[in-house]
Amino acid sequence: MKKIQISPSILSADFSQLGSEIKRLEEAGADLIHVDVMDGHFVPNLTIGPPVIKSLKKHSSLKFDVHLMITPVHNYIEAYSDAGADIITIHPEATEDLTASILKIKDLGKKVGVSLNPETKVNVIKQHLNQIDLVLIMSVNPGFGGQKFMPEVLNKIKELKNIQKEKNIDFDIEIDGGINFENSKIVIEAGANILVSGTTIFKSNNGDIKKNIDLLKSR
Ligand code: DX5
Ligand code: ZN
Repeated sequence: MKKIQISPSILSADFSQLGSEIKRLEEAGADLIHVDVMDGHFVPNLTIGPPVIKSLKKHSSLKFDVHLMITPVHNYIEAYSDAGADIITIHPEATEDLTASILKIKDLGKKVGVSLNPETKVNVIKQHLNQIDLVLIMSVNPGFGGQKFMPEVLNKIKELKNIQKEKNIDFDIEIDGGINFENSKIVIEAGANILVSGTTIFKSNNGDIKKNIDLLKSR
């Protein structure tokens, strides 16, 4: 089994203190920094763009796990790569040519992630699975933190694990949305090895992020 990694979403951090929030996450044992990029078009919310990511990079040596919820995503990939994204995750619905966008991320020397919305089937990316480093399973509809976990998406994790075995390929399986101390065990058991969490990490136990990261990992 792969080591379980926690990728805190800074969507729930204090936006007026993002630099110190990221430092705090690194000190608390986070494995990655999850950055939710939203355009008010692909999803009904707006967040941050490349200049903010670029300035945040100076505050941590952790890898930036950048989740792009923007369309058309293709022409922005380079800007996020230049800003310092280490993993670039895109949604198949947000690009006209998924193969071209995957290749673009690879050409830039970055890790490629592809994300499946709750209603998007594994079949949509099946033929690409040998080219990608990570599949991000959305367990809420993207757009906002603090939503309720949708257990029905767990079947997709099982499906992906079966494809890995059958085709003898490897990629990380990340899960994003509504992860808490109650469901972290079942998502890990289903086969996810990277857990994104915003609300649970920043708001539980009076914001004791070290405790919250440790609790998510130990389930
Ligand atoms: C939703 C984002 C998530 C979200 C996670 O569109 O992709 O990363 O911020 O937040 P919680 O853990 O609060 O569901
Ligand atoms: Zn996300």
